[in-house]
Amino acid sequence: MAPKRPFSPRTFPLPLLPLILLLLLALAMPLALADEDEDDDEIDLLDMEPDRQAGEVMYRQCALCHGQHGQGILGGKYPRIAGLPEYYLLNALQDYQTGARGYDAMLVVGGLKTADDQDLVNLSAYISDLEVDLDVPGPEEGSARKGKRMYRYDCRTCHGRKGEGKTRKESPPLRGQYHEYLLRQIEMFKNKERIHADDPEDETFAAYEDEELLHILAFIASLDDKEDKDK
Ligand code: HEC
Ligand code: HEC
Repeated sequence: MAPKRPFSPRTFPLPLLPLILLLLLALAMPLALADEDEDDDEIDLLDMEPDRQAGEVMYRQCALCHGQHGQGILGGKYPRIAGLPEYYLLNALQDYQTGARGYDAMLVVGGLKTADDQDLVNLSAYISDLEVDLDVPGPEEGSARKGKRMYRYDCRTCHGRKGEGKTRKESPPLRGQYHEYLLRQIEMFKNKERIHADDPEDETFAAYEDEELLHILAFIASLDDKEDKDK
């Protein structure tokens, strides 16, 4: 049997102690900072200087589906993205990158998979400047008159009186968007496949019958895309 060595400061080198403390600290840090970091991210990106020309070049990949002017496609398979605000575009593109919103074809065909922060900033600035004037049709089964009341009561505070979206709420404009696409998103919100209003517990759509949602979408489609975009 090998003789046991007596425990002494030599066999348990003291320099390890500060190292262990440091390791514990390093482990605890990200936990403490995680919350703040998430919000800071977006603000940082919005502060970055966009290169719109680089954005235009990269946009060619996106045009395959979203159209040359970001107009999307009638029927809403591909949403209109022209003119969406930068804060919202940045959130959306990051959500597709992280998988919070799932649409893999966009990562691969669109090239988002390898896009870095600067690419996202360039793309968002370019797309946000695109102007289209779409008079989108509403769902035939919906009544804009009935939808107006529900919209004003339940959606206006965040999406704006004219459906123009609000920077402060980081909410997107809804007017000028295909109702089929919007309905698909609402289904995703309901099924918790996408997070609405930054709130995983959000129940905005739980109480609405399908018929009522069509009324709301008919009202949204009746809002003029051209009206002033002041918040
Ligand atoms: C293969 C087709 C395709 C390509 C290429 C593509 N997209 Fe998309 N995009 C879609 C589809 C389909 C959706 C809707 C997915 C869903 O329902 O969540 C979408 C959704 C979006 C949205 C969300 C719109 C909203 O109102 O929230 C943005 C923003 C977007 N795409 C930007 C881009 C950009 C930028 C590129 C290029 C880097 C790109 N897309 C390339 C098909 C595509
Ligand atoms: C508390 C604020 C708030 C309220 C109230 C609200 N929304 Fe939203 N909504 C948001 C935010 C924020 C987003 C963007 C989520 C994201 O970034 O993915 C959003 C996104 C959406 C989208 C997806 C748009 C797109 O381009 O993909 C639809 C559709 C939508 N809301 C419909 C509605 C309707 C209809 C109502 C009323 C019944 C409503 N919302 C009420 C904050 C709100």
